[in-house]
Amino acid sequence: MAEPKNTELMEKIVSLCKRRGFVFQSSEIYGGINGFWDYGPLGAELKRNVKEAWWRDIVQNREDVEGLDATIIMHPTVWKASGHVDTFTDPMVDCKTCKARFRADQMCDTPCPKKPSKKATECEGEKTEPRAFNLMFTTHVGPVKDDANVAYLRPETAQAIFVQFKNVFETSRQKPPFGIAQIGKAFRNEVTPRNFTFRSREFEQMEIEFFIKPDEAIRAISGAVSAPASGEPREDWGWEAWHKYWFESRVAWYESIGLNRDSLHIRWQEQDELAHYARATVDIEFDFPFGQQELEGIAARSDYDLSQHQKVSGKSQTIFDDELRQALSKLDEGQRAELVDSYKAARLKYLLSSGVEQELAEKSAEADGAGFLKGNYVPHVIEPSAGVDRLILALICTAYDEEKVVDEKGKEEVRTVMRFHPRIAPIKVGVFPLLKNKPELVAKAREVKKLLQDHMPVFYDEAGAIGRRYRRQDEAGTPFCLTIDFDTIGENGEETADTVTLRHRDSMKQERVRISDLVGMLLPQVR
Ligand code: GAP
Repeated sequence: MAEPKNTELMEKIVSLCKRRGFVFQSSEIYGGINGFWDYGPLGAELKRNVKEAWWRDIVQNREDVEGLDATIIMHPTVWKASGHVDTFTDPMVDCKTCKARFRADQMCDTPCPKKPSKKATECEGEKTEPRAFNLMFTTHVGPVKDDANVAYLRPETAQAIFVQFKNVFETSRQKPPFGIAQIGKAFRNEVTPRNFTFRSREFEQMEIEFFIKPDEAIRAISGAVSAPASGEPREDWGWEAWHKYWFESRVAWYESIGLNRDSLHIRWQEQDELAHYARATVDIEFDFPFGQQELEGIAARSDYDLSQHQKVSGKSQTIFDDELRQALSKLDEGQRAELVDSYKAARLKYLLSSGVEQELAEKSAEADGAGFLKGNYVPHVIEPSAGVDRLILALICTAYDEEKVVDEKGKEEVRTVMRFHPRIAPIKVGVFPLLKNKPELVAKAREVKKLLQDHMPVFYDEAGAIGRRYRRQDEAGTPFCLTIDFDTIGENGEETADTVTLRHRDSMKQERVRISDLVGMLLPQVR
């Protein structure tokens, strides 16, 4: 079947999401609220499965990553230290005629609200000069609404990880390289939310801050930093190797939950796109129907974040590494001095760029160098940062398929099927009694549902013809359906008693399976 046009495909996806209960507009009965979306029954399951798969693979199945669940509202100084209060802005222009507000860098794509058939730039109204618009939502903590009580809804989950770094480090008995991971809500007052859930004002992130030793420490301990290569982590990996490791792991993870490798692209950010402290950032982009867009960013952020919190809070974020201390003590004078000088130079560069005046910066860098010699350093970080909602949208776009099929009566029809990977499918199994007015069939189907429901989400359906029930589950993305028929209840002999028809969503193939084999057969595929 010919591929539908991309805008048409997007419309079909949005329509299916509403019709089948994946995604609804927030506050729909009041006309909705721009940039906010709710997940319906199927969407809520899908989202849970995605977050659980990430948590299991990133936190529970690894020995070098710890979990965190921090508050959305934090001390406002966190956002001053992180730079968000001063620089987390988009350039914005106002139309003096229609009073609409646009992102200056997206004017050409934005419809004019007064004349939706026209683009914003074509609206005749004179525009203001671009102004910086801070994307953080503000609120007030406590009963008094004044400037002293302003707080922010977090625009990323990452800062809580940095702020709790020392607590996690001290309680988990980890040492670099190790990570801290968090899943949670983030809020950005986007000037122009768009493309369904892609750019929302309330969304969820899944972020890892992976703390590593500075390269000078690796050189002291291992003699040299190895060139980036694929494979299992090694002692002598510096930041470039860890950065490569993480963007390759993340692509492999996306493949493991059903995104096609061909639809994922690695894009190195250009030098002028990078934040001043970032050494390199790779975006993993996905082919959405509206274009190739960012799904996740993997940034090598040096020791900037912990250094900022150390500087602003006055609380040391350095850690002591005895292996480093011993390694340095065994080096000859020249090698030791070269490494300490290199560490000092990097600290001085950071301190000057963060606004510390020359004399003080030199003094602090000197002290940092002396600390390094004794085995102390501020950990560096690699940050893989993913958006849950963008991933859900990518999974829905990947899963959506239409194919022509011929029904039992020879009639051609279009089957809409969501080909979710069984691991993330909202419902794993549909259970159907062939006829709803045969108590033996219904009782047996209920029994099969009960057997499976402790292991996986199961949907019971007895309404309508079997073909229609299959189609309904195809649209929900249910990978397996079981039909309980007269064979199951032993009416056609011993041999087929206690067997069911297992129907596979993608191939529509059917096979006879013993009820006692179902859990063992299905569980490994849906976990
Ligand atoms: N801590 C780094 C950070 O927040 P980011 O590139 O601003 O980096 C990371 O955001 C991810 O969060 C993005 O790759 C995207 O998946 C998701 N994201 C960011 N803004 C979003 C928005 N307005 N709506 C939905 N997802 C968003």
